[in-house]
Amino acid sequence: MSLVVGVGLRSGTPYAELHDLVSRVVTGEVRLVVTITGRESEPAIQQLVEHLGAELRTFTKDELAGQPVPTPSDQVEQLAGVPGVAEAAVLATGAELLTPKQRSTNATIATGRLPAPGYEPEDRDVVHRVIAERRDVRRGFLSLPVDDDVLTRVLEAAHRAPSVGLSQPWDFVVIRDVATRRKVHALATAHRDAFAASLPPDRRATFDGLKIEAILDTPVNIAVTCDPGRGGRHVLGRHADPRTTWFSAAIAIQNLWLAARAEGLGVGWVSFFEPGEVAAVLGLPAHVELVGYLCVGYVEEFAAAPELVRSGWARRRPLSWAIHHEEWGRRTTSIVDDALKAAQNPGQNPVRNPGQNPGPDAAPATGGRVHVIVGGDPTDLRQADALVVDLGQNRPAADFGVLWRPARAPAEAVEYGVEIARDLALQGAGHLVVQLAEDSAQAKALAKALAEGLEAGASASGLTHSWA
Ligand SMILES: Cc1cc2nc3c(=O)[nH]c(=O)nc-3n(C[C@H](O)[C@H](O)[C@H](O)COP(=O)(O)O)c2cc1C
Repeated sequence: MSLVVGVGLRSGTPYAELHDLVSRVVTGEVRLVVTITGRESEPAIQQLVEHLGAELRTFTKDELAGQPVPTPSDQVEQLAGVPGVAEAAVLATGAELLTPKQRSTNATIATGRLPAPGYEPEDRDVVHRVIAERRDVRRGFLSLPVDDDVLTRVLEAAHRAPSVGLSQPWDFVVIRDVATRRKVHALATAHRDAFAASLPPDRRATFDGLKIEAILDTPVNIAVTCDPGRGGRHVLGRHADPRTTWFSAAIAIQNLWLAARAEGLGVGWVSFFEPGEVAAVLGLPAHVELVGYLCVGYVEEFAAAPELVRSGWARRRPLSWAIHHEEWGRRTTSIVDDALKAAQNPGQNPVRNPGQNPGPDAAPATGGRVHVIVGGDPTDLRQADALVVDLGQNRPAADFGVLWRPARAPAEAVEYGVEIARDLALQGAGHLVVQLAEDSAQAKALAKALAEGLEAGASASGLTHSWA
C-alpha cells in the first residue's frame, strides 16, 4: 500500500514535534508528503520528506478550497483561507482518506491511500495507439518472411491472455505449407461464392469489390483453436457459463492481433468456413475446435479506417449507443431523441459520421433495399430476401433472417424500431420496405418507429422507406 501524508503546520514548528506526530499515526511506506503552497520551505517539512524518502507536492489555496474535508476548522479557514490543509491536501492528490486530521500543538496531519499508479501519459498513448491502429488486413501483403523470433513474441502475447480459471484453452497451428493453405483457400472461396449468391444485387456489387481473405498472399497462417474441456472438471468460473472458454480463446486472438500490429505485421481474420472443414484439413482432434483462422505477414501500409468502412459496406456505431447506465436502455441520450436531433442537424448525424474519425469513416452507404416484415410467425414469413422482426416471447431458432426483439412495452418497441433502422443504415441499407404483419401494439409501434420515426431523420441518415 502506498501512503500520502497531508501536513498543515505553523511556521517554525520543530521537526521533533512533526516527527512525533507522524510516527504516532503512520505505519506503512509513505510515497508522498503534501501541503499548502508556501509551507514547502519549512525546515520541519523538508526534514520529514528526507526522513521518509518521499516526494513533496504542494497545492495552492484554490486547489485546496474545494475539497470536501470531513473535519473543517473555522480557525484554519481564517488563517489560511481554506477549511483545513492536511485533509484537503490528501484529497487533492486523488487519494482515499485513511486517517482524518490528527493534531499536535503546532501541526496537523492526515493520511490517505494512493491508488496503484497507471502508465505515464506517453506510455498510455502507445496502448491506445496500437488499439486504434490495429486493422484487419487483406490487401498489400509483402512476400517477406516472418522470423521465428517475431512470431514467438506475437504468440507469447496471445498466450498471456486472460482465460477462465487460467485454463488457457487455446492452441496455435502455424501453417506455412502452400499445399495446406490451398486447401483452406478452396474452402473459403466456396463460402465466399455462397455468400455472394445470397446477396441482393446492389449489395452484391459492393461485396464483389471486397477481398475477404489473404490465405495465399501471406507467408504464415495461424489457426487458433479451443479445447473446451481443458483443465478438467473444476475450472474456476466455467461451470456456470461454458461459453467463457471460447471467450478466452477469442481474447488470445486480440492479444495476438495487437502484438502483431506493434511488430508491423498485418493480420486478417477469415471466417468464411464451416469450422469442421478446416479442422479436417488441419487434422484437429474431435475435441478441439477452430476459433479463428488468421493470415499474417508484413504489409505495405495499415489503413486509417476499416476496409469495410472505406468501401462503403458498413459503418461503425457510435459509442454512446452502446453505453447504458444502470439498466438497459438508459443511455446518455436516448436513441429516439438522437434520431430526432440528427434530423435537425444532418451534419452531425452519427449514422453518417460514426466513430471519432469522420474523414475515412464518412464513406457513402451503398444504399441497398431491405424488406423488413414486422411481427407474425417467422416460420411462415421467412423469405430469402426479407428480414423478419419477431416480437414473440419465445426465442426463435437461430437464423440471420429473423431478428428477435421481444419488446416489453410499446415504448421499448419504438426504441427497437429506431435502432434497427439505424443499424441497417450502418450495414449499408438505403431504403426500407416495411411490412406490418401483426396486430399487436408492440408490432405497430415498432413498425411505425422503423418507418415513420425515421422519416424525420431520413434526410440525415440517408435512409428512405415505403410501406409494403
Ligand atoms: C470474428 C471475426 C471474423 C472475421 N471474419 C472476417 C472474414 O472472414 N473476412 C474478412 O474480410 N474480415 C473478417 N473480419 C474482419 C472484420 O471485417 C473487421 O475486423 C472489421 O471490419 C473492423 O475492421 P478493423 O479490424 O480493421 O478495425 C473478421 C473479424 C472478426 C473479429
